[in-house]
Amino acid sequence: MIPKADRLQQVQEYYFSRKLREVRQLAAEGHPVINMGIGSPDLAPSAQVLQTLKEAVEDAGAHQYQSYQGLPELRRTIADFYDQKFEVALDPETEVLPLMGSKEGIMHISMAFLNPGDRALIPNPGYPTYESVTRLVGAEPLIYNLTEEQGWFPDLEALEAQGLDGVKLMWVSYPHMPTGATADASQFKELIAFARRNHILVVNDNPYSFVLTHRPLSILATPEARGHVLELNSLSKTFNMAGWRVGMLLGEAQLLKAVLQVKSNMDSGMFYGIQKGAVAALKSGQSWFEHLDATYRRRRAGVFQIADRLGCSYDHKAVGMFVWARLPEGSPDSETYIDQLLHEKHLFVAPGTVFGSQGAGYIRFSLCVKDGDIKEALKRLEPVRRPAAMIKNPEG
Ligand SMILES: Cc1ncc(COP(=O)(O)O)c(C=O)c1O
Repeated sequence: MIPKADRLQQVQEYYFSRKLREVRQLAAEGHPVINMGIGSPDLAPSAQVLQTLKEAVEDAGAHQYQSYQGLPELRRTIADFYDQKFEVALDPETEVLPLMGSKEGIMHISMAFLNPGDRALIPNPGYPTYESVTRLVGAEPLIYNLTEEQGWFPDLEALEAQGLDGVKLMWVSYPHMPTGATADASQFKELIAFARRNHILVVNDNPYSFVLTHRPLSILATPEARGHVLELNSLSKTFNMAGWRVGMLLGEAQLLKAVLQVKSNMDSGMFYGIQKGAVAALKSGQSWFEHLDATYRRRRAGVFQIADRLGCSYDHKAVGMFVWARLPEGSPDSETYIDQLLHEKHLFVAPGTVFGSQGAGYIRFSLCVKDGDIKEALKRLEPVRRPAAMIKNPEG
């Protein structure tokens, strides 16, 4: 047996990779499992995007290696998109880097800025990849706790008081996954002031900026952001293109240059057709965003009813692709709770603890579930009505 690299001692198989095997097994045994666990958009990209991809495969040069930095047209379109949607002006030549999904950006950024032994601030609860990638590059995660009472925003004073020796990077993600909490312009300003005082690079991972948000916000719109901030964004959720793997990194030229140094040694450009499709998606008109909003709003109303039926509480104003719900008092721990739901009602929901210990006592519903399945889930949770005769004469 060839021994694995030491770095693999630091990470485990992703929770969903493990759990979905169990879910598939139940389905294979004939149980009608409704998957409300993962945030993989089930809706299609726009017809325009699909048509553009089809036509692009016939273009001259479509099947050759592409530029490490993406097509100039894609970078220009991303810059225009950021200008129109977030009022952030970016130089498409130097301040925009297309990625194959924002997830790969987490690895590239970590490789570009973290030395073994450096520390990175990681939110709890948060997207598990920040911590695993930090460990894979030999750096040390410094977990910061988020709480419902503080609106899932970090207590920056407490972090400074605790000491930030060796901290080089801070991961934030607003709108926040899994809680759906948002940060406003003044909170972004606080984060940037914190980063500047402590010489930390803040990265806002922003893939949910268009899901049920009233107004999309970018941390880069804060005037003081230059030099200390990067933002990741993605087409996965905004345009139902998760499998296409298109993301983007935005920020100051010198920072992006370092990331490109890593990336250009790891891949050889993104498929031309995908880039052309991405351009078409980014040019989508207002009706696309309205359609997305209406769909998730309707689904969320159904999921709120499911949460009500389970006796959970939640924030009506939270945004994003999930409903983060607090379990009723006296419930078992969230992993036991979701196992009971899975085995008794055949509903798969993510336990809050997948996202860190601060997720204890919470569960996360995905909105990537068809209306019919939401209805069916509600039906499975209907209170059991005893026959009238039994109620009249319980002993009989
Ligand atoms: C917070 C967060 N960041 C990044 C990603 C990865 O997105 P992408 O598909 O762009 O790699 C996800 C996906 O679920 C996510 O929830």
